[in-house]
Amino acid sequence: QDKKLWGGRFAEATDGLVERFNASVSFDQRLAEQDIRGSLAHVAMLGEVGILTPDEVAQIQDGLKAVLADIRAGTFEWRLDREDVHMNVEAALRDRIGPVAGKLHTARSRNDQVAVDFRLFTKEAALDLADRTRSLRAVMVAEAEKHLASDDGEAVILPGYTHLQVAQPILLSHWFMAYAAMLERDEGRFRDAAARMDESPLGSSALAGTPWPIDRHATAAALGFARPTANSLDGVGSRDFALEFLSACAILAAHLSRLSEELILYSTFEFGFLTLPDSHTTGSSIMPQKKNPDVSELARGKAGRVFGNLMGLLTVVKGTPLAYNKDLQEDKEGVFDSYDTLSIILRLYADMLPKTVWHPEVTKAAAARGFSTATDLADFLARSGVPFREAHEVVGGLVGLASRTGRQLWDLTDEELRAAHPLLSAETARSLTVEESVRGRQSYGGTAPERVREQVEAAKAALS
Ligand code: ARG
Repeated sequence: QDKKLWGGRFAEATDGLVERFNASVSFDQRLAEQDIRGSLAHVAMLGEVGILTPDEVAQIQDGLKAVLADIRAGTFEWRLDREDVHMNVEAALRDRIGPVAGKLHTARSRNDQVAVDFRLFTKEAALDLADRTRSLRAVMVAEAEKHLASDDGEAVILPGYTHLQVAQPILLSHWFMAYAAMLERDEGRFRDAAARMDESPLGSSALAGTPWPIDRHATAAALGFARPTANSLDGVGSRDFALEFLSACAILAAHLSRLSEELILYSTFEFGFLTLPDSHTTGSSIMPQKKNPDVSELARGKAGRVFGNLMGLLTVVKGTPLAYNKDLQEDKEGVFDSYDTLSIILRLYADMLPKTVWHPEVTKAAAARGFSTATDLADFLARSGVPFREAHEVVGGLVGLASRTGRQLWDLTDEELRAAHPLLSAETARSLTVEESVRGRQSYGGTAPERVREQVEAAKAALS
């Protein structure tokens, strides 16, 4: 145990349990690279403005680089009694280069150090998740393109649902493009968040700024930030950059969870729409026949912790007065966790979706069930001048009749149809195929093959 870096005024040693409770080094050592980058930028600036001599700067820089090399090599000794990443690095620097190490902390506080480290980390994490989200979107678009023409040259048809009741036939490609659209906005949220957090808090010092003639613009630029934060209290006291990152994570997790639920459902024996690859499913230790969609179940379930991380930090921040409070040490683990969780799910799905086999005959047959073309029949009547509400009523009556007698709309007899409305006939009912239904939905953004191909082409152009 060495003397605490802040130990000057203390007469008694820190209680052992307090030390453990207070320490963050077990998790914030993950910020070591950012911490040393921050220190290198800070010390270079101290030299430039004449606060430190060129010799002092060189000694500190060499020492920091040596510490970084130890950390990278895994030979660095992380010490709980040194509390956090910042004081571990600084104490190790002092072990190496002696008392001159103490000059590094001139015009700086751990408060701005942790704020700058964590912003650097979160900005990189946001941009990384933006890239990974984009890669998964490219996979979705490629799948959409693939299923526009299946083996027999026809686009794959899927039942479209509302309330999980069959609603209208759609193209499988349309379904893929819906997820691509969500992922596009998810990517945008990460990039927007990264742009907004692109400000350096370094030089805010403890909270009020510093009397030293520092150059915050220089350190901001050296660290790749667009500018320094404009207010020192805000710089050290705010964590909305992390909240914004966590909310973008939460929304993405919600989208991936919905996707997971659909894949789980569609892979069941009862649906049989798709077969998940062996490489991304697991078996049961007792039931030999089982093939379980664990990846999707975990992706669905892990949304819980990703939401929790957002709610957790919101709750940590909400009652804290300006500026820094130790509560804010609780900001990091949730961000690390959401980042790691989503990073792996995005990779898993990018690998798994192209290996997932869809069964077009099954999906098409399912799309035809459940009176999915009833709207088309109502539209047929409405096109002939029948008010849509009346057409809806007529077709609703026919659906009731067919459903009571265990038939489909196209099984109804000529007489039954004509009795319901003189414009209807067996021939009209027979023309109600799922292909016709899909082909007809030509509105912008609709599921007609031409419209979906336009979506695919636009997405490919945007991604290239
Ligand atoms: N480990 C601390 C954190 O993560 C660093 C900042 C500590 N500042 C302080 N005044 N105690 O928030």
